[in-house]
Amino acid sequence: MSEVKDNSVKLIITSPPYFNIKDYSKNGTQNFKHSEILNGDIGNMNNFNLYIKSLVDVWKECERVLEPNGKICINVPLMPMLKKDLNTHYNRHIFDLQSSIQNSILENTNLFLYDLYIWNRTNTSKGLMFGSYPYPGNFYAQNTSEFIVVFVKDGKPKFKSQEIKEKSKLTQSEWVEYTKQIWNIPIPSKGDLAFGIHPAIMPEQIPYRLIKLFSFIDDVVLDPFTGSGTTLRVAKMLNRKYIGYELYEHYKNVINKKLEGLF
Ligand SMILES: C[S@@+](CC[C@H](N)C(=O)[O-])C[C@H]1O[C@@H](n2cnc3c(N)ncnc32)[C@H](O)[C@@H]1O
Repeated sequence: MSEVKDNSVKLIITSPPYFNIKDYSKNGTQNFKHSEILNGDIGNMNNFNLYIKSLVDVWKECERVLEPNGKICINVPLMPMLKKDLNTHYNRHIFDLQSSIQNSILENTNLFLYDLYIWNRTNTSKGLMFGSYPYPGNFYAQNTSEFIVVFVKDGKPKFKSQEIKEKSKLTQSEWVEYTKQIWNIPIPSKGDLAFGIHPAIMPEQIPYRLIKLFSFIDDVVLDPFTGSGTTLRVAKMLNRKYIGYELYEHYKNVINKKLEGLF
């Protein structure tokens, strides 16, 4: 992100690669064909500590480009591992991406923890987790939620004119809904332009709420892991400026599609 100036971004919204469960190198079609897995694909590492460390370099860059009082919002799920993939002890293991990323940010940057939201996936498509069903002892919670953790860069916010404040303000019902700690939102389905093209699309409602809560019209919103371009699309829709980075060129078409025809 060396092109982006220090202290120039109001809000970062991202969902980083989920350790090594998704294959982002698939040729933009999800038809089980890989293109070449590129060097630097943080979603293709099978060492969890290395994965968390690689992300720290990105979080440090995010800290550099954020304005004072700017926020970074990171969306991640829990990652229960199948015994066939990780067999370290009698029970299965869970990688808690949120807590590992949170600890790594608090240890390696000067960002402060600001808020934590839970995304309740109201139409979860995952198979049930049975554990020891029907017998007690080793039941598993169904994996139906994700986290959105918000950090802030210390400092006073930049001045905003009354006109910009008025244009950016929330209605009372938006405020009531968006500041509930649990967000009930379905996972994207066929209506999303990237459905079947990108394996981990974020619902538009997530960046929509975060952009309304934490930025003003004309502010800059950045996503270091753009994927299919959901954050950028919503930023454009809400009259924010936007910057995105994505490793795989094969997502360029769908990103452009998401940005086309909004106005
Ligand atoms: C969870 S997805 C983001 C999905 C996005 N929020 C959306 O709604 O489509 C993470 C993305 O990070 C990309 N990625 C992996 N390593 C990267 C790197 N070093 N730099 C930039 N993007 C990377 C992957 O190709 C993948 O598209």
